[in-house]
Amino acid sequence: MALPIFTQRLVLRPYVDDDLEQLHAVLYSDVDAMRLLGGPRDLSGTRFALERSMTQQDVSGFSFWPVIERESGLLVGEAGLFPLSPDGPDVALGYAFGARWWGRGYATEAARAVIAEAFGPLGMDRLVAITREANHGSRHVLEKLGFRMEGVRHVWGAEQLFFVLERDFEHQPGDG
Ligand SMILES: CC(C)(COP(=O)(O)OP(=O)(O)OC[C@H]1O[C@@H](n2cnc3c(N)ncnc32)[C@H](O)[C@@H]1OP(=O)(O)O)[C@@H](O)C(=O)NCCC(=O)NCCS
Repeated sequence: MALPIFTQRLVLRPYVDDDLEQLHAVLYSDVDAMRLLGGPRDLSGTRFALERSMTQQDVSGFSFWPVIERESGLLVGEAGLFPLSPDGPDVALGYAFGARWWGRGYATEAARAVIAEAFGPLGMDRLVAITREANHGSRHVLEKLGFRMEGVRHVWGAEQLFFVLERDFEHQPGDG
């Protein structure tokens, strides 16, 4: 694992307990950001998500990671990897940002870094992603990243579009 990960404008690093309040204020309590992710959470819901990511990181060496804007030092969202189901084997890319930070290319920038981490240091050969049909912004991000849509799956109580990205062995991350 090669955390923290620096991109041009962002840093991805492991979660710490002190991220709770900012994560809650910026993302999990944001009605717009959580609209297609089951709705906003109360503080205990955010704590559950944060602790799940920290446990996931300890167990697997990957998880959702807080995304910090380098210029301001603010936590602006999260991006990373999670097992699609406890039975495996699929690992999914995910990302979410406070609505204030949408439209700046942050999801694409963070996701590219996560993909490079997955196919580089983490040694993965395939990533999946799920998103609601109505989530046009997220679908567009996945298409920009090269994911291909492979139908619909019932995940977490909802019909979700299912996307796949396979590692390109001829063009390794960092080749440009
Ligand atoms: C989806 C989300 C992550 C996008 O973040 P972002 O930082 O604004 O994304 P980017 O700026 O990197 O790219 C978004 C792209 O989608 C486009 N887009 C945004 N909303 C769109 C819409 N409603 N319809 C079509 N395209 C849309 C943008 O124009 C941009 O494309 P471009 O670079 O070609 O102009 C953000 O809206 C978000 O956090 N949503 C709430 C959480 C969520 O739904 N996460 C995904 C769960 S699957």
